[in-house]
Amino acid sequence: MFDLQRNETGVSDYVLLAAQLESLLATERDFIANAAQFAALLFNEMPGLNWAGFYFNRDEQLLLGPFQGRVACVRIDFDRGVCGAAATTRQTQRVADVHAVDGHIACDSASNSELVVPLEKNGRLLGVLDLDSPQLGRFSAEDQRGVEALVAIFLRLTDC
Ligand code: SME
Repeated sequence: MFDLQRNETGVSDYVLLAAQLESLLATERDFIANAAQFAALLFNEMPGLNWAGFYFNRDEQLLLGPFQGRVACVRIDFDRGVCGAAATTRQTQRVADVHAVDGHIACDSASNSELVVPLEKNGRLLGVLDLDSPQLGRFSAEDQRGVEALVAIFLRLTDC
């Protein structure tokens, strides 16, 4: 097992993260267990995050799933916040300044930017992956592509 140390160096190596995620999920296909491992990997390996985790689609609401970081909102309506926008549009939401977004839900007042990737399999919305950062503009287009590729690995290696 590789050593999970916090990466404080700056840019993420998505080729390495993809290899780590493949290895982490190679022997288990359970949705909750794999989501928990994925959240821990991102939180510890991506620099500058204060929250990394999942919300699952439960009857047109988003319900808190495995995460790393401070305690968070438990249920989010689809018409609320950045996570709700990702769920409704099924498009990744990359927000440089969450305070400029109408209806943003401040689970942690330290959060300033956010990347939310929808989890979609066979046309079904399973939920969203939410990454938060205290840094304004933390997430680049490259981060978006990299995290979307990691989500694709998670969905391929997980029963859901
Ligand atoms: N900020 C999110 C809510 C979830 S927390 O940040 C963990 C939003 O506006 O959707």
